[in-house]
Amino acid sequence: MLGTWKDLRPLFPSLGTRPSFSGDGFWLKTVNRASSRPLAGSRNSRRQRKYWLVVGADEGGVLYGTFALLARIAQGQDLSTLDDLETPSAPIRWVNQWDNLDGSIERGYAGGSIFFENGAVRTDLTRAREYARLLASIGINGCAINNVNADPRLLQAEFLPQLARVAEAFRPWGVRLAISVDLSSPMSAGGLKTFDPLDPQVKAWWQNMVDRIYHEIPDFGGFVIKADSEGRSGPSKYGRTAADAANVIAGALRPHHGVMLYRAFVYNHHLDWHDPKADRARAAFDYFHPLDGKFLDNVVVQIKNGPIDFQVREPVSPLFGAMPQTNQAIELQVTQEYTGQQRHLVYLVPMWKEVLDFDMHVKGVTPVKSILSGQVWNRPLGGYVAVVNVGLDRYWLGHPLAMANLYGYGRLAWNPDLSAEQIAREWTRLTFGNDRKVLDTITRMLLPSWRMYENYTGPLGLQTLTDITGPHYGPGIESSENNGWGQWHRADRKGVGMDRTVETGTGFVGQYSPEVEKKYESVEKCPEDLLLFMHHVPYSFVLDSGKTVIQYLYDSHYAGAEQAATLVEEWKSLEGLIDDARYAEVLRRQQYQAGHAIVWRDAVVDWFHRESGIADAQGRVGYHPHRVEAEDMQLSGYTPVDVTPGETASGGKAVACTGQGPCSASFKWDRPSGTYEIAVQYFDLNHGASNFELFVNDRRIDSWAAEDHLPSDRMNGHTSTRRTISSVKLREGDVLKIVGHPDGGEPAPLDYVEIAPGRETVPFTN
Ligand code: GCU
Repeated sequence: MLGTWKDLRPLFPSLGTRPSFSGDGFWLKTVNRASSRPLAGSRNSRRQRKYWLVVGADEGGVLYGTFALLARIAQGQDLSTLDDLETPSAPIRWVNQWDNLDGSIERGYAGGSIFFENGAVRTDLTRAREYARLLASIGINGCAINNVNADPRLLQAEFLPQLARVAEAFRPWGVRLAISVDLSSPMSAGGLKTFDPLDPQVKAWWQNMVDRIYHEIPDFGGFVIKADSEGRSGPSKYGRTAADAANVIAGALRPHHGVMLYRAFVYNHHLDWHDPKADRARAAFDYFHPLDGKFLDNVVVQIKNGPIDFQVREPVSPLFGAMPQTNQAIELQVTQEYTGQQRHLVYLVPMWKEVLDFDMHVKGVTPVKSILSGQVWNRPLGGYVAVVNVGLDRYWLGHPLAMANLYGYGRLAWNPDLSAEQIAREWTRLTFGNDRKVLDTITRMLLPSWRMYENYTGPLGLQTLTDITGPHYGPGIESSENNGWGQWHRADRKGVGMDRTVETGTGFVGQYSPEVEKKYESVEKCPEDLLLFMHHVPYSFVLDSGKTVIQYLYDSHYAGAEQAATLVEEWKSLEGLIDDARYAEVLRRQQYQAGHAIVWRDAVVDWFHRESGIADAQGRVGYHPHRVEAEDMQLSGYTPVDVTPGETASGGKAVACTGQGPCSASFKWDRPSGTYEIAVQYFDLNHGASNFELFVNDRRIDSWAAEDHLPSDRMNGHTSTRRTISSVKLREGDVLKIVGHPDGGEPAPLDYVEIAPGRETVPFTN
């Protein structure tokens, strides 16, 4: 039986006094009810009857309790005696979508928007409705549906009824609609001459706008604001602060119980790269800490988990410990912008756990999660936001296993004490059923995948060594340097890392409590995972393991690429136990990841090798005994080309078929006869769908199309792709030939062929 406490208690007096649950909380409880007061319709009034009760603290609690009960049933749990009392850790459990009105999604990797198309809200909101149900099933209660780089058109009069349609789709699932708004809206959408938050006309404009929204959408959640950040307008234009700006809008929202989520992602992206004291990591604290206590009570400052921007590893943002009189929400990223864009399997829950459990040492033991819940400083509001960016893709996020991150986010927002493993196991059961082998294998794939990815993309606190001025996907080691964006790693000929110490660096470390500062300030005590985030050290610096920093960089990249290959084998062991469509989709992505991990590995180790001039003690870097470079093959029609950056192609060069084609590249196999694995490394540009054929003598053994939509139309680390053909029998003297058929301006570009004896892989567990 489902109902709120108020409704069920009179029917079941044995429930006793109200338990300690509150808003959105629930109590799953089995009770035996005596026969004296039969329920309407009950014939069997003499006997004891057993009831499964879903008792909600309020209506939301009934909804979440029902999903919790369904989840227990689906996981085959023993339901004979239920007594499970839960209250969510925090009131704000929101998601943000970065959807644009034209239907595209900023940093979305799974198809077009489920909300917008052609400048308007979609006519068909089926997926939006399904999304709301999905969010409710994991306890999410708010969703801001548009890009934080907000389009002012959303606030135009004709848009309101359209937003009301989305709110209607959300309503049955307790998900409150929210939107991102641009601070300059009074000018851009309202025609005023200013958007100065302290101007009375501006204040009146916001009040009027908010009243109109609530007239159409009485349960509207509120606004998200990105201001003074990455070129967005903001209060600084008028010499006002974030508090001035937030409060004028929050004041308008307050009578309607709406909230204002003001993002702390405020920084100057024109920093002076030559200034050793300049540091983007300092920005949020420097800007917001002085404003503590100045925000209205329905303002929540939304703080990214780290001080930079969703890198593969960052320290916890020091701002969490520095605003005792301000509501705070953490902003996490489910969409894997810097973590493989759902082409790489990266289960982010272990990373989030580290952040939430991190002790800020600001008031005794103060893990971030207890600050977010409002508990530490007795705040009325606080909680969780995740940038999700699901799209129209059949699997919502592209990679079917990436949904473990959305599930995990919701679960942690509800209960941050759950472990990453428990969440992985729950999700796997709910998604693929209760087969033991499936459960164990997928859990074993998920848990180490973050560390794996870190190993081949930027360990020791280097952050993701990606193309930061481009799509944030493939390797681009140098791209973060020599510009104002401040994602610097400061690698030079002698050493690597950003000195953020108080003593000699940017002083960022001083933004933490004294206990945390002490740990980070000292190069000996600093956790190695963050060493190069906090310190600049010579390549010869020796780590606890006895390895030098440079050797660790080499080793971790080789290990990471090996580990990525194990995911393919793990997944293959589930053939027949997973439905065909999802089996094939995950396999395709794992194979791709295994290949791209090698691209990452080679680019990073080559770059550091060149920069440091220090050889790899194991002799692997730059040594590819099984490789034949395309430019060294016998070419017909193909011409050699330079690839930029050079380290994203083997030997810095590839070959391209720039004419009509087809073109071919061939070479003689002069090694012993045997069974081999052949890998063909080619570039799959965003445009065109070139075809490749692989021949041994005149026998065609494989063909494929380069038809993926990787995020670049050039040959580089984003587009470099590997095709692997296993168990090929080769005889000494055989001629191997690749024939490339260009298409749509894509010149069937080829990097190299690698022929290695077939090898065994063992699962990666650490
Ligand atoms: C990142 C991301 C941007 C986004 C920004 C933000 O920098 O690359 O696309 O707009 O974060 O969070 O506002």
